[in-house]
Amino acid sequence: MFCLHRISSACVDPFDMPESDQPAADPYRYQLGLGNFFLSETHQGIVPWEQNTPQSVPKGLVAEQISLDRFTNPRGRNAYAWLYRLYPSISLPQHFMRHDHSAFRLGYLIEPSPEPYRWNPLSIPQQSFDFITGLKTVGATFKDGSAPALTHHVYAAITSMGQKAFSVLDGEVLILPESGALDIRTEFGCLLVKPGELVVIPQGVWFSVQLVHDAPIRGYMFINASDRLHLPDGGIVGPNGSVDPLHFKVPVASVDLSAPYELIKLSHGKLYRAKSADSPFNVFGWKGNAYPYKYDLGLFKPINYVDRDHLDPSIFTVLVSSACDVAVFPPRWNPTQHTFRPPYFHRNARMNEFMGLIHGRYEAKADGRGGFQPGGFSMHPAGVPHGPDAETYFRAIAEDQSLSARIDHTLAFMIESEGRFMVNRRMLTSQNMGGLRQDDYAGYGAEIRTVLVKPGG
Ligand SMILES: [Fe+2]
Repeated sequence: MFCLHRISSACVDPFDMPESDQPAADPYRYQLGLGNFFLSETHQGIVPWEQNTPQSVPKGLVAEQISLDRFTNPRGRNAYAWLYRLYPSISLPQHFMRHDHSAFRLGYLIEPSPEPYRWNPLSIPQQSFDFITGLKTVGATFKDGSAPALTHHVYAAITSMGQKAFSVLDGEVLILPESGALDIRTEFGCLLVKPGELVVIPQGVWFSVQLVHDAPIRGYMFINASDRLHLPDGGIVGPNGSVDPLHFKVPVASVDLSAPYELIKLSHGKLYRAKSADSPFNVFGWKGNAYPYKYDLGLFKPINYVDRDHLDPSIFTVLVSSACDVAVFPPRWNPTQHTFRPPYFHRNARMNEFMGLIHGRYEAKADGRGGFQPGGFSMHPAGVPHGPDAETYFRAIAEDQSLSARIDHTLAFMIESEGRFMVNRRMLTSQNMGGLRQDDYAGYGAEIRTVLVKPGG
């Protein structure tokens, strides 16, 4: 059973859909506040709050806990939830077969040469790809050992998952849609996630992605295998700046007993599947502080320097973990004077920068060399220099700065990850993956050099 009823629509170019045609209404109710404890139930009194495991749970349900952290973690870093469900998860099939998926292969990772990379957006799939079969692995970063701390993926799909459910055992899932809304059912309830929002689904939680109005979907997905994403400390900014915990939305309990389901698990970078006679979404209520959540990036309150020079891009941080920082570059004012206003030239010795564009234009890039397109993505591995392209550079050094500049019609994000980056080798040639890679992207710096005025010139 889908969270929303699908409504067929005329055939349109799905990735060029005007904003007004995107489904805007969110039919679901939410609870507010990241980090809070919640209790949510489909029928009043079905979730015991006096205790967790009464001898007999109301309505014949069973109590089952999911814990996301080591039991002895400090309370602030210890998330868990009790789910009250028709059957315990162990009653679902436990024998899974390998499910080969040509594009979702962490086994294809190789060490890239140290240079800038940029790719075009995924094109509309010709086959009936859903969210899972439409995933393509870009790369991963490794902090210690052989297991990735963070993996990077992009997706494009034209069909709903239907009676398929997905559980990622390797880490928590972060999704940022670029085109098409995602109607997501989870064990904790349903969320509608539109372009401009992000959603986080806890490690190991079942979820299923349906299209809305049959609109194709495209976007970005990351799997964070380190400590869970959480709000950054405010530091000298204080608790009221940038990101407000109350802006995070948490689903309310919603049960789905439709069957059968195809269950797909991601474990150690490999997909497995099994047929199930029961729904994994047989949860009538839950309580705890572990749950999926979504956040509207448009609610981010950017801060900036008000006189001259740049603050570090960390001022745009929405979520952090030990593996990565998640930052957003939203519309905002730039009042700086005597300042090169776009992002400056720089190198990060330790950090890898994956960037995506939700809509509009990113302030550091013009249209040259294929441009940084909505749905496109770039990676600047650690140590690789980068910055504005030539057109952006020369426009910026000539601009009139007597007034503040409005940076508008843009929404970009950056996943900055620490460690050794490895790339899916199929992403390195433009012949593979549908010609995604912009082979000449690395040359944009040389373009600047050829027109810079030399001393004495
Ligand atoms: Fe950078």
